[in-house]
Amino acid sequence: MSTACPITRHTSCSTHPMTTASAPGKIILVGEHAVVYGRPAIAVPVWQVTASAAITARAPGAGCLLVAPDIGLRQPLVAAPADEPLALVTRLVLTALGAPANPDWQIELRSTIPIAGGLGSGAALSAALVRAIFAHLGHAASPEEVSQFVYESERLYHGAPSGIDNTVIAFGQPIWFVKGEPPTPFVAQRPLTLAIADSGVPAPTKETVGDVRRGWLANPAQYEAWFDAIGAVVHAARRAIEVGDLPAVGRLFDDNQALLARLGVSAPQLEQLITAARAAGALGAKLSGGGRGGNIIALVEPPAIEAVRAALLAAGARRVIVTTF
Ligand code: MEV
Repeated sequence: MSTACPITRHTSCSTHPMTTASAPGKIILVGEHAVVYGRPAIAVPVWQVTASAAITARAPGAGCLLVAPDIGLRQPLVAAPADEPLALVTRLVLTALGAPANPDWQIELRSTIPIAGGLGSGAALSAALVRAIFAHLGHAASPEEVSQFVYESERLYHGAPSGIDNTVIAFGQPIWFVKGEPPTPFVAQRPLTLAIADSGVPAPTKETVGDVRRGWLANPAQYEAWFDAIGAVVHAARRAIEVGDLPAVGRLFDDNQALLARLGVSAPQLEQLITAARAAGALGAKLSGGGRGGNIIALVEPPAIEAVRAALLAAGARRVIVTTF
């Protein structure tokens, strides 16, 4: 049997029924950090990298086993600590659906999304997990439901997240996001092509979000002014995207990057990649996500893609993903 949904699937034979589900990575286009303080941000799913969850039956009485080879997890659900994000999500969903607390399942999670790269690897794993459990129990999960469950796991990874990562991953389309409000799906007038370059340096999102909070507590007026400036960049970027003015979007990437550097979340490796992308013809470039590591994004006109990709790799990028939305 297979469902109409492209992101969940049941395959069955008499002995090995299996349910699979997937979720994309994400990037923040503009507005990270300020979004935690109520300013808008724009985020985009990245379907070139995905997380997946597969549920298969175990012998009666064997209980639930969580297996995530990418993060070295192989643990019975009953033995997982309360603050293990994937176990937390599993328990919350089972409870919400009125299912047994320790079903005889193996849940295997895999991902092609670099871990700690700012591409939402943790949120995507949780989203795939939520969808797989819903589907295995014969339910369809709405994007809102997926987002809500994933948010609970994000709190464990990141402390006080805005909710943008779980939202864009659960909805699987570009969104305009303001904390606490329903997201607005977002359509570009002209396709935007982005080169996403991995610095290879882990992005310590919890740490950068915490540092920005400490800075804001110590100097609220200065930080509020920077957040307002980022909010203005995000509004201007939306207008530029809606009229297809890509050079303006590129300049706004650069403005956003300058403000993120003031917040203290850039890093020499990120600046090096950003400089290389701009020099090779990108319309603009900035870090994406929590910063200090992870990925940068460069806005590129299609004829410049190969030059920008080569320049990013020469400047030390571990890999470059090109995506268009
Ligand atoms: C992380 O992808 C984005 C941040 O703005 C944190 C958040 O919004 O929760 C840095």
